[in-house]
Amino acid sequence: MTKPVSPMGFETRAVRDGTMRSEFGEHSEALYLTSSFVFDDAEEAARRFQNLEPGMVYSRFTNPSVQMFEQRLASLEEAQDCVATASGMSAILSVCLGLLKSGDEIVTTGSLFGATIQLFDNFMTKFGVGVKYVDLSRPEEWEAAISPATRLFYLETPSNPLTQVADLQAIGTIARKAGVITVVDNCFCTPAIQQPLRFPIDLVLHSATKYLDGQGRVLGGAVAGPKSLVDQIRAVVRTCGPCLSAFNAWVLHRSMETLALRMRAHSESALALAAWLEQHPSVARVFYPGLASHPQHALAMRQQSSGGAIVSFELKADNEGQAQERAFRLVNAVSLFSRTGNLGDTRSIITHPASTTHGR
Ligand SMILES: Cc1ncc(COP(=O)(O)O)c(C=O)c1O
Repeated sequence: MTKPVSPMGFETRAVRDGTMRSEFGEHSEALYLTSSFVFDDAEEAARRFQNLEPGMVYSRFTNPSVQMFEQRLASLEEAQDCVATASGMSAILSVCLGLLKSGDEIVTTGSLFGATIQLFDNFMTKFGVGVKYVDLSRPEEWEAAISPATRLFYLETPSNPLTQVADLQAIGTIARKAGVITVVDNCFCTPAIQQPLRFPIDLVLHSATKYLDGQGRVLGGAVAGPKSLVDQIRAVVRTCGPCLSAFNAWVLHRSMETLALRMRAHSESALALAAWLEQHPSVARVFYPGLASHPQHALAMRQQSSGGAIVSFELKADNEGQAQERAFRLVNAVSLFSRTGNLGDTRSIITHPASTTHGR
């Protein structure tokens, strides 16, 4: 269920929504660095702990800085509710712990961030959760993979790093018909470019570490969607503890003020770079949804307002060994781009995913 869209535009909501002011009336959001909160009396403490009245209790599950970040992101994703987590991976783990039990099955795709695949294959299977892999771009494979045990469809679009695009309308419709919950990692686009909850998608997930921060400073994560589902994930964060720190939430809340501007600038630069790479004699293939040559360009442009900031490409080579050797030579030769694995920064970066972010 999506929240009724605010009459304010995206960029206004990005600077206004979520802000809570203290009795001092500060214009810029205060930072609430405190692990716990005090109560007027024992009765109030008991009511707050039992969720019988709203109010702050303990920063593992209630903190004003964290709530400001959650509410701003919920507004931008047009979600009813949002829960923040310590990182993107802890958001994915919390979804699994909150919504799955032994015997359930996840249907997902190999076109995923490497650590997400490791989480599913190495850890979820240990607790009796089955995982099936299908082609991200073929909705009919998602439909065929459904069994009575299927509880979750999990996907990224565009995918990291090859920017494969999922048809959110088609996959979401298949899932709704089968009573399966669909989770979309919206890390590559952010709500400034794509709002998955406008499609039949249940939950949207973020590594806030990436564009939501936008300057490579903090780790964070979040899951947004209907309150009934977010409550189940919030219960995991409360009890198991993968909570976002107040400081990181404060940084992220402020960062989102410039999200739309940054994503527009990122997309413009990425498109120019992708077009240049496509003409380069040493480049075999460029993967960028904003290019007309991307096999799913039309679909991407229906779902996204621009191509996003990630450009992937393959160098011409005769075999895998030569491809890796040429890729390493290129990574070592750049003078301006940073050699680092964290995308979403204001500074351009270069990485060889097969030996780094997707290598283990
Ligand atoms: C698409 C995607 N999802 C999730 C993650 C995990 O996020 P984090 O590093 O914040 O745990 C990443 C990290 O690079 C990512 O690229």
